[in-house]
Amino acid sequence: MSQSINVVVVSGSLRDPSRTHVLLQELVNALQKRLPANVHWVRIAELSGGLAGSLERDTASPQLLPHLQAIESADLIIAGSPVYRASYTGLFKHFFDLVDYQSLKGVPVLLAATGGGERHALVIDHQLRPLFAFFQAHTLPYGLYATPETFTDYRLTDAAQFERIERALDPVEAFFRNAAVQAA
Ligand SMILES: Cc1cc2nc3c(=O)[nH]c(=O)nc-3n(C[C@H](O)[C@H](O)[C@H](O)COP(=O)(O)O)c2cc1C
Repeated sequence: MSQSINVVVVSGSLRDPSRTHVLLQELVNALQKRLPANVHWVRIAELSGGLAGSLERDTASPQLLPHLQAIESADLIIAGSPVYRASYTGLFKHFFDLVDYQSLKGVPVLLAATGGGERHALVIDHQLRPLFAFFQAHTLPYGLYATPETFTDYRLTDAAQFERIERALDPVEAFFRNAAVQAA
């Protein structure tokens, strides 16, 4: 593949450092070994004040507009959030409340989450997946969930998690390689 894909990564954590950010960064690193990609990051922690104060799209903070425009024209979205009270963070949802509801149709979305324990691993399928179903996005079948045990000092150190990252990326690579063949 010669043409780069436009990837938007949304990290729903409100903290820095962030385990969610580390997991997403490892995903991006592995993706870039497989496919040429331009990566745009949306870090909710950095947008928090402007995002919380932007109640409508028409009056949204100018700081948000490049991020909204990037996601609305993305080829691939990687969406990750820490689990807060058995769901994604409130500001992660608020960001998507401002995204044009018709702009994500058919866009592949890779889902990821981190939580304090295994108990809420289904946040991927019970919370994140329905949100992107609303947008008629194409959520990829295999999501990534990580607990604190898979990290050491905010570094991902669990070999099994790296294998899961590769497994999650197989359908992503197939999707874009097939699209490139069809376009040729
Ligand atoms: C307000 C709050 C609520 C949380 N709720 C849950 C929860 O319901 N289930 C869970 O497994 N972990 C929960 N956690 C733990 C975080 O999901 C976990 O520490 C996560 O990895 C933090 O990600 P971050 O470092 O990217 O912010 C909660 C943490 C906070 C601060």
